[in-house]
Amino acid sequence: MPALVLLGAQWGDEGKGKATDLLGGSVDYVVRYQGGNNAGHTVVVGDQKYALHLLPSGILSPGCTPVIGNGVVVDPAVLLSELSGLAERGVDTSKLLISGNAHLITPYHTTLDKVSERFLGKRKIGTTGRGIGPAYADKINRVGIRVQDLFDESILRQKVEAALDSKNQVLAKLYNRRAIAVDQVVEELLGYADQLSGYVADTTLVLNDAIDQGQVVLFEGGQGTLLDVDHGTYPFVTSSNPTAGGACTGTGVGPTKISRVIGILKAYTTRVGAGPFPTELLDEDGEKLRTIGGERGVTTGRDRRCGWFDAVIARYATRVNGLTDFFLTKLDVLTGWERIPVCVAYEIDGKRVEELPYSQTDFHHATPIYETLPGWSEDITQAKTFDDLPKNAQKYVQALEEMSGAPISAIGVGPGRDETIQINSFL
Ligand code: IMP
Repeated sequence: MPALVLLGAQWGDEGKGKATDLLGGSVDYVVRYQGGNNAGHTVVVGDQKYALHLLPSGILSPGCTPVIGNGVVVDPAVLLSELSGLAERGVDTSKLLISGNAHLITPYHTTLDKVSERFLGKRKIGTTGRGIGPAYADKINRVGIRVQDLFDESILRQKVEAALDSKNQVLAKLYNRRAIAVDQVVEELLGYADQLSGYVADTTLVLNDAIDQGQVVLFEGGQGTLLDVDHGTYPFVTSSNPTAGGACTGTGVGPTKISRVIGILKAYTTRVGAGPFPTELLDEDGEKLRTIGGERGVTTGRDRRCGWFDAVIARYATRVNGLTDFFLTKLDVLTGWERIPVCVAYEIDGKRVEELPYSQTDFHHATPIYETLPGWSEDITQAKTFDDLPKNAQKYVQALEEMSGAPISAIGVGPGRDETIQINSFL
């Protein structure tokens, strides 16, 4: 069972870092396949807390090779500062591999992300402002700059010229901004070449060879299913495919090589940025979830919107990702509620709807239909097995599993590395 995908089943921030890190000890490669430094993983190792944005969380596991696949967009300045930050804390980062086909986020992408959001005004997406959308737009438009371009000055210059030709018109005429000089961008990018060259590899070849040799490869999704540009709540989404298929296009590993797809599912729901969110709580309960769950973005520091668990979304994640397992996280955050509502279906224009509607209009009109489950008050952070959980916590997990369409194979009961109940092995 050598290749697994681990991805967010909701709107991101489900606690993937903990799950990947938990597996990191037994996997040979941890691979990011999409997104960029818009992601934010918090990993707690002993008394040390690490916030990773671009690097795969496997970087913290000695013996594991971290890989940035071709589907990722790489801001080289951020990458280098993340690497040096880890090196200062004694983490060995020398094994990192970066695909030469990954696209770069340049300063003009970040500028465009910010000005275009401002221009959208009330209709803004609430992006992380990291240049993600503009970098992917250039990739699809075939005017992107790739990691490998850093090593050929003449090609790099031609590509930056091609990219800036039209962008400078847009910046100056539409957004009333100063044009960006080609020389300045080329010089900055060339400055990264030497520092990055040792990491660049044909990662598709490396990963396929590794799988053929029976090594364990873990594909780590950023963001989450509902932020997927094809399957999420478009247009309030990110510009890549966090869903399972993205692991194939974003790394060059075929679907027949993937044996397991694990969805990370928070015991309640959160979302950052704009867009519909049927179970959102704008009351004391929402505030309580935010405070107890520490629901503040790792990347942007923005407060996350919080709400009850939504089984319609979990079922949808099972469907579009072909999930084989769930990793339920942050169950401990729900300790202390007398009763816990769970959304089992939506009401849309007076009708009960069991599946996520494909129509944006319908989804915006969806109101949750709740079933209320009894809560528990006992501390669960020391629980090591399912049987250690209070009966009502067990019932909550079982109910979620029945509603969500895939087995819950692990449960997070606290932020620490060892605060996890493993029910089925992932390997
Ligand atoms: P972008 O990815 O910066 O373009 O932002 C698009 C949307 O995805 C916004 O609503 C962001 O808040 C959201 N987003 C991007 N990355 C993450 C993440 O790692 N967790 C949660 N939301 C994210």
